[in-house]
Amino acid sequence: METFNDYYNNAVTFSFSDHPFSKEPKHVLVITRMKDQWLLTHHKTRGLEFPGGKVEKGETATEAAIREVREETGGEVDHLLYLGQYYVDGKADQIVKNLYLADVGQLIEQGTYFETHGPVLVGRLPKEMKTDERYSFIMKDEVIALALKFIEENKL
Ligand code: GTP
Repeated sequence: METFNDYYNNAVTFSFSDHPFSKEPKHVLVITRMKDQWLLTHHKTRGLEFPGGKVEKGETATEAAIREVREETGGEVDHLLYLGQYYVDGKADQIVKNLYLADVGQLIEQGTYFETHGPVLVGRLPKEMKTDERYSFIMKDEVIALALKFIEENKL
């Protein structure tokens, strides 16, 4: 387990273990790839980030992950892998979020990308994402750096 402060100075605790905080998390974030590129979405207010969002009523977290990738990027998930879970101790509320790795085979153009401008493919993520204003605060969590290292080291 690792604890660090996020962009807003909230405490975030992350673990690669199997659902350490909740079996029914209400949030998901999906590290998404298409072939040899990262598939991001351009959130209208937060900037560039991996697709994700809230788990809806009657939906599992896995279903939410697949839906969010489609809604925010048009990507069809071929393969989804649970990576870990994190807990954010926010000022107003606390949230539990599942983190996944997804491989997308194709992009299908959507009529709406909801609260985003849709898909953005990048070959490489910037080293200095924490100070890069194009990127969302969600991408500045240590969770992302840890997960990207884990993906690389384990050749996922
Ligand atoms: P809606 O407006 O209803 O979509 O939700 P919200 O803006 O209240 O945010 P949400 O319920 O998604 O999250 C509540 C709080 O948790 C946010 O204000 C963030 O501070 C925090 N939060 C959500 N996701 C993350 C994340 O991935 N990382 C970090 N560090 N904080 C997060």
